[in-house]
Amino acid sequence: KARVAVLISGTGTNMAALLYAAKAEDCPYEIALVASNNPDAAGLKLAEAEGIATFAHPHKGLSREAHDDIMHDALVAAKADYVALAGYMRILSPEFVGKWEGRMLNIHPSLLPKYKGLHTHERALEAGDSHGGCSVHLVTAELDDGPILGQTPVAILPGDTPESLGQRVLIAEHQLYSRTLAAFVARESSPDYLIAQIRERALALPEAD
Ligand code: GAR
Repeated sequence: KARVAVLISGTGTNMAALLYAAKAEDCPYEIALVASNNPDAAGLKLAEAEGIATFAHPHKGLSREAHDDIMHDALVAAKADYVALAGYMRILSPEFVGKWEGRMLNIHPSLLPKYKGLHTHERALEAGDSHGGCSVHLVTAELDDGPILGQTPVAILPGDTPESLGQRVLIAEHQLYSRTLAAFVARESSPDYLIAQIRERALALPEAD
């Protein structure tokens, strides 16, 4: 099974959804590590209780690059194949993103490209949108901007507040993230995909003499 490290900063309900989905026998990934910049993140305790390895290192007093290096070393030590950001409230250095490019996913609580950054539900409500929602995307150096792998629209109800909409979006997030991660990992390890990769690399090689 592919080894996934999950990075969290807070409650970790998306991490929990990934973890419980991974308990299914046919799930193509397992959780190798739950890591955080916040040693008090509630999700760390849950992961520990579920027998998952955890790692925490506060970012305070460290440069972005220095903290990212510490996290990267922990991911490598855990032999992670993929990284899933799940409410990891840190902007990542381009160096860190470069090391995991194509293998790092994020979940964002809006229908990207709408409402990158924070306060997404508030902004959807203010704009009078019919739907909020969530997106899973590959992480690139630009914030909340990489290729979108999956999205779920969530209808906005009369009287919705950012909190009430956020709660419904979170339910959709849990379902979307585990499903999208599983599909991504399965596609990448499928024989067709691997053969296509080998072909692509062979074509990129210079002609033999
Ligand atoms: C989720 O809604 C996630 O989409 C959001 O933080 C929440 C974390 O909840 N992420 C971002 O806003 C990233 N910019 P969780 O800790 O319960 O999974």
